[in-house]
Amino acid sequence: MLLYEGKAKQIYSTDSENEFVVYYKDDATAFNGEKKAEISSKGILNNKISTIMFEMLHENQIETHFIKSLSEREMLVKKVEILPLEVIIRNITAGSFCKRFGIEEGIVLDEPIFEICYKNDDYGDPMLNSDQAVAMKLATRDELAFLREQTLKINELMKAFFLKMNLKLVDFKLEFGKDVNGNIILADEISPDTCRLWDVDTNEKLDKDRFRRDLGDLVQGYEEVLARMNCK
Ligand code: C5P
Repeated sequence: MLLYEGKAKQIYSTDSENEFVVYYKDDATAFNGEKKAEISSKGILNNKISTIMFEMLHENQIETHFIKSLSEREMLVKKVEILPLEVIIRNITAGSFCKRFGIEEGIVLDEPIFEICYKNDDYGDPMLNSDQAVAMKLATRDELAFLREQTLKINELMKAFFLKMNLKLVDFKLEFGKDVNGNIILADEISPDTCRLWDVDTNEKLDKDRFRRDLGDLVQGYEEVLARMNCK
């Protein structure tokens, strides 16, 4: 049974009350849904790339919702209740950081920046600080500290992983959820829809900015990411 439909994925219930199926759609959206397209095979690529990322993190002792891949477009995951927060890490300036602060794209930051946003489409997923998040009961202080620590750890693992593929991890967004035991674990997806990835030598963008900014064929970019993952 379809439980939830997001912009790029659907979540289905299963016979087990502790497991969901995530189905990756071909829909691409940007600017909070203002720009839309259906891009054939994007869902297949994101499912494959997310699977590789969750497996890599699992091998490095990061708990995730991923259980196993079921088909080209589907993965079986642990049931979680998604925290209404989007967690962003930036290693290199790009996107909304540049726009908001009038800063040039491509500056390598001395330290990663950790940001949190309120996951709410009606308000455009606004950035908020930890006091606001605690006041709104989106997470406790301890949970926010855990999210920061876990996300910084994940950043180091992902940066090293992508560098082996000659890709720079510019920034990315994660979502976490509470499992049936109340533990906070990594959920959602990790794909070029949710990460900015630039070629180390040419700075060619191989992520969703191709769609957002009309920088080239999206599928070609995602296929390049997957091909580099497979021959690493
Ligand atoms: O747009 P912004 O620069 O804040 O995005 C930072 C990172 O988070 C990018 O990698 C972008 O793909 C990702 N992101 C996302 N979903 C959102 C907002 C940002 O995957 N709703």
